[in-house]
Amino acid sequence: MELIPILPHFHAVLNLASAILLFGGFLAIRRRDVATHRKRMAAALSVSVVFLISYLTYHAAVGNVKFAGEGWIRPVYFTLLISHVGLAALSLPLIFFTLRRAPWLLVSTTCEPHRRIARLTWPVWMFVSISGLVVYLMAFHLYPPTAGG
Ligand code: HEM
Repeated sequence: MELIPILPHFHAVLNLASAILLFGGFLAIRRRDVATHRKRMAAALSVSVVFLISYLTYHAAVGNVKFAGEGWIRPVYFTLLISHVGLAALSLPLIFFTLRRAPWLLVSTTCEPHRRIARLTWPVWMFVSISGLVVYLMAFHLYPPTAGG
């Protein structure tokens, strides 16, 4: 069975899972449940790593996906796509330093260096997950690729 055509749908599920885990991780730290916060952030990271490997494999196989939408929707789509890809690249070092500054030994429920960078990492990562989902819905469902397109 040819897997490549299925990958965009798989990526959408991964983006949705990442957004749900990030939201759950945020809710956990709001109630000072660091262990659950850590688990959910680690799960969001695992899902995002699988996404990145699969996404690069897909685009290595098919190149760029042509957007079939015409007229006013094109600048909307490309603004979203470019900000999604740009912030996805930025999220990699942000996630690395957020993890590096995390209080892995759980000796305390406060950690200023982690919190300072996490306040930037979390919204960037959340935007990347949700915008990835919207780009998918636009490119594969609202304006599906035309045969031969
Ligand atoms: C890349 C993964 C992670 C992200 C995006 C993240 C994100 C966040 C966010 C948004 C906050 C709340 C900041 C605020 O108060 O406004 C926070 C706080 C916190 N996180 Fe994480 N976190 C991550 C990984 C971890 C890990 C692995 C641990 C534990 C080993 C951890 C432990 C904590 C603790 C203890 C706080 C409370 C800090 C304080 O209030 O001083 N986080 N994190």
